[in-house]
Amino acid sequence: MNVQESVAFVTGANRGIGKAYVEALVQAGARRIYAAARSLDTLNDVVAIAPDRIVPIALDVTDPAHVNAAAQIAQDVTLLINNAGVIGSGGLFTANSVETAQWEMNTNYFGTLSMVRAFAPILQRNGGGAIINMLSVVSVASAPVFGSYSASKAALNSLTQDIRAELATQGTQVIGVFPGPVDTAMADGVPGDKAEPIAVANAALDAVETGLEDVYPDPVSQRVFSAIADPLKAVEKMFAGWMPQ
Ligand SMILES: NC(=O)c1ccc[n+]([C@@H]2O[C@H](COP(=O)([O-])OP(=O)(O)OC[C@H]3O[C@@H](n4cnc5c(N)ncnc54)[C@H](OP(=O)(O)O)[C@@H]3O)[C@@H](O)[C@H]2O)c1
Repeated sequence: MNVQESVAFVTGANRGIGKAYVEALVQAGARRIYAAARSLDTLNDVVAIAPDRIVPIALDVTDPAHVNAAAQIAQDVTLLINNAGVIGSGGLFTANSVETAQWEMNTNYFGTLSMVRAFAPILQRNGGGAIINMLSVVSVASAPVFGSYSASKAALNSLTQDIRAELATQGTQVIGVFPGPVDTAMADGVPGDKAEPIAVANAALDAVETGLEDVYPDPVSQRVFSAIADPLKAVEKMFAGWMPQ
């Protein structure tokens, strides 16, 4: 799919990797970019990047009424970028760990599921299009320092494989992005080298162009996946083959 001809929708577009997606889409020449955030006020700087092409949208991905309203407005979308995400702190045995896990699961998993369900018919009407889901290296093995976040990203990885199989017949390309630490507010407390948000966004948009399904955009993710990517993909394809034809 050609990014230059796309109409994109980015969740969590006001900062971090989401803002980098908007910058990368503008640079790539996308026709229109819906930049969504919980608070419209936080989108002023983002819209200023290209006011003629960027449309601000108020959207909390955990609110089904918001998701449906956004889908009503953005009927021309061909590229959905599910970027919004949250991470809690503390282990599984702290006072509020169940609430934290529910918040992460509601945002990272159910929020994305809700967006995909609302936008899949739109993508179909517009020729198939593409979906990018922001996963993580912790989608395939728990990092116990973020145990419940890891579980939510593992669930999102499973969802991504499912929608890749279920939406194949309507020609929707589904891309999972598995970064290691990226230099945003979310990774503030994480030590070591971090990828630049714009490098992650550009790697994902390259995958839209080339048809790559899984994106490992930085040295940490490339190291994590070097030995396991092919066997994991083989199992995913075997299970996808169980879909009725
Ligand atoms: N940074 C990393 O190291 C890293 C690594 C791997 C994967 N990722 C993933 O990449 C994505 C972007 O992360 P980031 O590093 O850019 O994080 P970030 O700087 O913390 O930004 C998170 C974004 O998600 C939005 N958001 C949170 N809850 C939302 C909700 N209920 N509805 C709509 N928007 C919501 C935030 O909006 P507000 O401004 O309103 O809070 C913000 O725009 C996430 O899915 C994250 O899990 C990040």
